[in-house]
Amino acid sequence: MAQGFFPVARRVFTVMGALYGAAIVLLTIPYFQTHTVFLHAVKIPWFSNYEMPERYGLAPNKTINLRISTTDNESLGAWFVISDPYYHALPTIPSQPADHIPAALKNHPTILFFHGNAGTRAFKARIQHYTAFSSRLSANVLAIDYRGFGDSTGTPTETGLARDARAAWNWLIQNGATANQILIIGHSLGTGVSALLAAELSDEAISPRGVVLLSPFSSISKVLETYSILGVLPLMKPLAMIPWASTLVKHAVVHTFATDTLVPRIKGPVLIAHAENDWDIPYSHSEALFSTFLDPLLPPAPSLPSNLASLTELQWSEFSAQLTTRTDARGKIVTTVELHNFGTMHEFTESGRKVVFLQTLAGGHDYLGVQEGVQDVIGRTFGLFGR
Ligand SMILES: *[C@@H]1O[C@H](CO)[C@@H](O)[C@H](O)[C@H]1NC(C)=O
Ligand SMILES: *[C@@H]1O[C@H](CO)[C@@H](O)[C@H](O)[C@H]1NC(C)=O
Repeated sequence: MAQGFFPVARRVFTVMGALYGAAIVLLTIPYFQTHTVFLHAVKIPWFSNYEMPERYGLAPNKTINLRISTTDNESLGAWFVISDPYYHALPTIPSQPADHIPAALKNHPTILFFHGNAGTRAFKARIQHYTAFSSRLSANVLAIDYRGFGDSTGTPTETGLARDARAAWNWLIQNGATANQILIIGHSLGTGVSALLAAELSDEAISPRGVVLLSPFSSISKVLETYSILGVLPLMKPLAMIPWASTLVKHAVVHTFATDTLVPRIKGPVLIAHAENDWDIPYSHSEALFSTFLDPLLPPAPSLPSNLASLTELQWSEFSAQLTTRTDARGKIVTTVELHNFGTMHEFTESGRKVVFLQTLAGGHDYLGVQEGVQDVIGRTFGLFGR
């Protein structure tokens, strides 16, 4: 006998609700949260041969596969990509490419690249970044796989990834790079790692050339609030209806990656870039980060009484006057340039350092950084051209 539509629909929704509830509960368990945040078990491309970067599109002996040890004795897999100007100036393909690392580090800037979650350093979109960095930006590239990723040992944690980043930085310095020749670039989860490294270096008065945050997020808890599957199913929206549930999930966040709270510690020049068509992390995260950098330069944000019913006309006019003052101050500090068909660039300079926010029309989440326009903004902002 045919069943009515509504009973079936109700049953389907009950099952879906139960699955959703189970998924949320799992997220609060550290083991599952670690696997969800890092997705390090997804080792795409599967069965990578890290000894053969050529298989993934890089020129013969332009990339050196190496291992970097951390202070807590993890061993990280890494690739060092020699910049094209250096590589092309060699009379032939180098027979011992590793011997060229110190000279390449001495003569060309280097990009220290921190990739996003899931996949390995051999992932296709990442290779495209190394190719573009080493050719269009004439820079060497050091790309690591964090602990638990690729062929690296260990299990990822937030402090562990920060250690891995520092180990990669130290490796560059030990091999002859100077701090101001190193540009830190992070993508997605890697922006959290980049911010941790940049803050640590600033605390020690070490100044890298700058920091680039590609498709960043302001913190993991804010990602949980805004994450939507393919831009249509907001993950945490249903939880908003059960106030204690979203609080529970937020308290259960083990790996916080709260870049927004690190902002005051990051001293050098910063470029934030985000595509409007990023369906994984909305560009509102980048707007929020840019505002956090800008905030100390603006008059304080006005607030309204919590009980709006008691709002007087005087309070309202004070509020709107303060808001106008703040907006005007922002307009005087921030320069905005429209880049035809490509995006919008906002920037300000504060005690000699530039903070730039590039909002692009295209690129999505994974391919933002391989756009020529984004590469060029990186090159101009950090003086990589015309050397
Ligand atoms: C570090 O790791 C190596 C090999 O994995 C091991 O032989 C060594 O004992 C470890 N050292 C420490 C200090 O844990
Ligand atoms: C590339 O480097 C390896 C050593 O890492 C060497 O054995 C090989 O001969 C080199 N290839 C060329 C074409 O020189």
